[in-house]
Amino acid sequence: MPDEPVEIAGATGVVHRPIRHDSGDKHVTGRAIYADDIPEPAALLHVHIGIATFARGRLTADLSPVRAAPGVVTVLTGDDVPGENNVGPVKHDEIMLALMGGAAEVVLEGQALFAVVATSRRAARAAAKLAVIDATPATPIVSIEDAIAADADKVDESYRMSQGDAAAAIAAAPRRISGRMKIGGQEHFALESQIAVATPGEDDDMHVVSSNQHPSECQEVVARVLGTPNNAVTVEVRRLGGGFGGKETQGNLCAAVAALAARVTGRPAKVRLDRDDDFVMTGKRHDFIIDYEAGFDETGRLHGVSFVQHARCGWSLDLSRAICDRAMFHADNAYFIPALDVVSHRWRTNTVSNTAYRGFGGPQGMVGIERVIEHVAADLGVDPLQVRRANLYRASAPAAERMTHYGMEVEDAVAAPIIDDLVARSDYVRRRAEIAEWNETSPVLKRGIALTPVKFGISFTTTFLNQAGALVHVYKDGSVMINHGGIEMGQGVYIKVAQVAADAFGVPLEDVKITATRTDKVPNTSATAASSGADMNAMAVQDACDRIKARLVAFAAERAGVEPGAARFEGGTVTVGGTRHGFGTLVRDAYMARVSLSSTGYYATPKIHWDRESAKGRPFYYFAYGAAVTEAAIDTLTGETRLLRADILHDCGRSLNPAVDLGQIEGGYIQGCGWLLTEELVWSKDGRLTTHAPSTYKIPCASDRPIDFRAGIWGPGENRELAIRRSKAVGEPPFMLAISAHQAVAAAVAAAAGGWRPLDAPATPECVLTALAG
Ligand code: MTE
Ligand code: MOS
Repeated sequence: MPDEPVEIAGATGVVHRPIRHDSGDKHVTGRAIYADDIPEPAALLHVHIGIATFARGRLTADLSPVRAAPGVVTVLTGDDVPGENNVGPVKHDEIMLALMGGAAEVVLEGQALFAVVATSRRAARAAAKLAVIDATPATPIVSIEDAIAADADKVDESYRMSQGDAAAAIAAAPRRISGRMKIGGQEHFALESQIAVATPGEDDDMHVVSSNQHPSECQEVVARVLGTPNNAVTVEVRRLGGGFGGKETQGNLCAAVAALAARVTGRPAKVRLDRDDDFVMTGKRHDFIIDYEAGFDETGRLHGVSFVQHARCGWSLDLSRAICDRAMFHADNAYFIPALDVVSHRWRTNTVSNTAYRGFGGPQGMVGIERVIEHVAADLGVDPLQVRRANLYRASAPAAERMTHYGMEVEDAVAAPIIDDLVARSDYVRRRAEIAEWNETSPVLKRGIALTPVKFGISFTTTFLNQAGALVHVYKDGSVMINHGGIEMGQGVYIKVAQVAADAFGVPLEDVKITATRTDKVPNTSATAASSGADMNAMAVQDACDRIKARLVAFAAERAGVEPGAARFEGGTVTVGGTRHGFGTLVRDAYMARVSLSSTGYYATPKIHWDRESAKGRPFYYFAYGAAVTEAAIDTLTGETRLLRADILHDCGRSLNPAVDLGQIEGGYIQGCGWLLTEELVWSKDGRLTTHAPSTYKIPCASDRPIDFRAGIWGPGENRELAIRRSKAVGEPPFMLAISAHQAVAAAVAAAAGGWRPLDAPATPECVLTALAG
């Protein structure tokens, strides 16, 4: 049984309390309205995107049979785009509909060529198949190995971060290891696939409902494609059926194509990808190859480490620069490495453009250093935990030994105390000995246990993105409406922000209305990503609340002819100058006296800066920490793995909502286990994705969770920075706790093989058997 959420010290009002997700009941009863549940207008048209079925080359297409098919209203190609035929989010390097003048240059399987607009989805899909395609394929660059061998193009220049002289430190160290690890990608597999509904309005106006983590960017992309200013386009998002980073940029194609169809036909239009198309067409987690070298001593202290990180970025830049940077930022994980050199290559391939995915490159970087630790421990013949402890950033260490390779001091360094708590709580030492004994007498099944920590940087490393806006109204009856840039994708940002607003006004949570995120309410927002959704939007909402509160207090004080003093908003009352007012009464009186009851709010994360030239700065406001112990078993005949037990302690600072945070911890860990153990993306040599449905791609299901699962929030957690109510962001960091599951499997493999074997990821049965075979 999972533990009860811890009581968070100093809980006041509705903040820091385990309040259920505002849509929890609606999620489980099917009453939550997703984009596809919005009642369809009679005039609605359905769009199917025709895609390339080979990875590289040229084609010509005759679309006349498509146009003539039943139910088809129109067929759109790049020639029909009034604005720019491009949906690239950072760089304009993603052609939207590649077919122009009857021909297309194909750079990936799944490339959007044309769009069929018809009276039903079925008609649109059937018609698309009638296109007569004449293809001249060329040899694609599919894998990272292909790219390295061909010295292929890169989507972004290679980049380096370092501190000290790693090469010299490694050369001078008493012991050395080196190796290579391959780390697979990951499909987001949000239950709700990519979808958008566009409705044309007066003049050039376009309203778009998009399943999208970044409505402001979607607005810009749609406006760009339609050739209108941003103010003609409104993007609205009530909730996503999961995003996980896969809708940070990847929702824009569907939105732009739907908007184009709506513009050309003058009717509302919907694009909804089915599972296989979504798989084939959209970007995933970057797979990595990491080459490493480490120099260390007999105590396990690392003297120097060097990493060369190779990332498969796909056909365009997308967010690869920031993602690969984040992989580099996390190459130290929770360890102080006096000499560390990290080089990153961002390879262009003829595959989908890899994109944001929970952890945003951080997980890949972290897996690299955790593999180094595992390898060092094997070389020394000691428990990897001993090596981890020998290298942790420690609060007691001098500042120079809390310095990251990018020049940011680790100020709170709480991985060490979390590990101490977890070792005791999970009974790690006794169990590790017991497992070793058990393995002696178990010929087929072998068990392993591992503990790994997480230190994850919170903030967008692209500094300007760390800003958020809000809009708060108080109506005459005292009810409150909040709006902000945060996107609700299941992670609970809406409830957390509502808790903060209710607490600010001292009113019950039920009096705060949560409304859909819209670009016409709060402009120029950042994506809900980098785990900073609640951090930033709750701050912006609090700012708006504070402005309204200040007006109410000034009004009440002036009316009574008193000094406002320390006003208090609590329990539905407002106390000003010693007099208590009902919140609703004061609001109504203020309205009658012509006091504005509406305000915008704004927040920009303080302290952060980053100089990409020198690769030094403070890219993160703070770090979130956690640690996990996983015990796994393998079957040495089939290669199958099973998670027997997991113990987690995760640092949420002073959690805004321990119930929601526990859900994030458990969900993140399980999703990470999917990435590292079972989810395998396989492209054929000619660049076709062969695993594009749940029949061939194995995400974790309920029966894959650890049989004994004990996740908890670390009680002493406290954010030393002034983040919202001293909480810490929790959306991504727990994902990386799953590295312990991979290393537990590796420990079981070592027990079976009679010595350590390098284990790639995902550790599928094939991968386990390969490792066993040496
Ligand atoms: N949890 C759920 N249920 N669904 C999601 O799509 N996305 C994750 C994480 N947790 C996700 C989730 C990712 S990738 C991020 S960046 C954060 O939530 C974003 O939300 P936050 O910033 O509000 O934590
Ligand atoms: Mo999360 S990968 O930053 O959307």
